[in-house]
Order: sequence, then structure tokens, then C-alpha cells
Amino acid sequence: MNPIRRTSCIALTLGLILCSCTPKGWTEWEKTVIERSDSVMYVCVMPRDSAILRAHSRNFGQEELQSAQLKTLLDKMYRTLTDPSQDGVGIAAPQIGINRRVILVMRYDKPGQPIEPYLNIQIDSLLGEKEPGPEGCLSLPPYRGIVRRYPRVQISYVKPDGTPVTEKVEGYSAIIFQHECDHLDGILYTDRADTVFVNEKWAAERQGFSYEKPDWWR
Ligand code: NI
Repeated sequence: MNPIRRTSCIALTLGLILCSCTPKGWTEWEKTVIERSDSVMYVCVMPRDSAILRAHSRNFGQEELQSAQLKTLLDKMYRTLTDPSQDGVGIAAPQIGINRRVILVMRYDKPGQPIEPYLNIQIDSLLGEKEPGPEGCLSLPPYRGIVRRYPRVQISYVKPDGTPVTEKVEGYSAIIFQHECDHLDGILYTDRADTVFVNEKWAAERQGFSYEKPDWWR
């Protein structure tokens, strides 16, 4: 076979493999998690759920953005994040078992500090000089760490109504965006931290909190 033909053959084969590896629409597992989870979802923890927490997340397609499943997912992620057992300031979909690019972030920079969903989110630019600050993660109980992050970010995302948005965020919310977007690329704050330590207060406050997986979890 001549080299050009061989190259196009390899390209075609790779294309077919990639196509078959990237399912269209919700996967059976994603549908199971969305439908079967309680309103407060099981939160993946390290190292038990590292396969999910370390994987890359993919964007939603147009159909999924308009689906009823997405509404349910956002609702359950919100309830999970705001439940007293978690009480976090942000959550990313891999943390509840779904490798998709959606996060919820508490907007400290807005009146009333609303928790808002961000779909197909990406960080376009990291701005300013890195500064150290404390961080924790629902998937790494009960640790805390000191991580250097940028004070400002420019982000692009899609709102639940389908509107595409690009905006600049600063302050603590900018830190949360960096932490949560890292989750979508399989990165945990401990990968970036200068120091990590056990947070005794956290552990004491959440004594009795269950990390049991639901019986239907694979
Ligand atoms: Ni986290």
C-alpha cells in the first residue's frame, strides 16, 4: 500500500475508533446516576472513586442541553452541594459520578451569593499573579491544603437556557472556578497544593457522615 493511502487508512480507522468511543447523548450510566440518585447524591471520594475523579469530562451536545435529564441533574447537584452534610462552595459533575463539563459555583462576587450552574465551561485565561489560599474538597475529606491560584479568570460557558456567555470573575469565586474546572480535567487541588493537612475540625463536625455507595452503584 502506498504511504498516502496507508496514512488515510490509519486516519479513517482512528476516526471510527474515536467516534465509537464518544457516545452521542446520555450514556446508560449517566441516566442511571441521574434517575436513581436521591436528591442528595452520593459524592465520589478518593481513592475509592479515582477512576471517575481522574477522568476527563466531555461537553454536552445540543440535545442534552435541552433535555429533562439535565434539569434533574442540576437540581440534584444543587441539593447535594447545599445539603448540611456537604455544605460546599462548589461542585463538579465528576464528583457525583458523571464525567461531563458542568459545575456549580457559589458567586461570592454577586449580591446574595447565589449558587449558579455552568455548562460546557472552560477557562479562557488566568489573570494576575498567583496567590496562596486555603482549599478543601468534598472528594477529599477531611483534608485541607494551601494552593496558589490566580486572582482573576476569564471563563466561557453555556447557561441552562442555552445562552453562551464569556465573563471575567475575580475574588474567591475565581478560585472556586479554577478548583472546579480542574475537576473536569481529572485534577485535584492536592496535585497543586504547597501543603496538605488533616482538618480535625472538619472531621469532628461530620462524625457519622456516611460515605457508603448506593446499592445500584457499579
Ligand atoms: Ni473539589
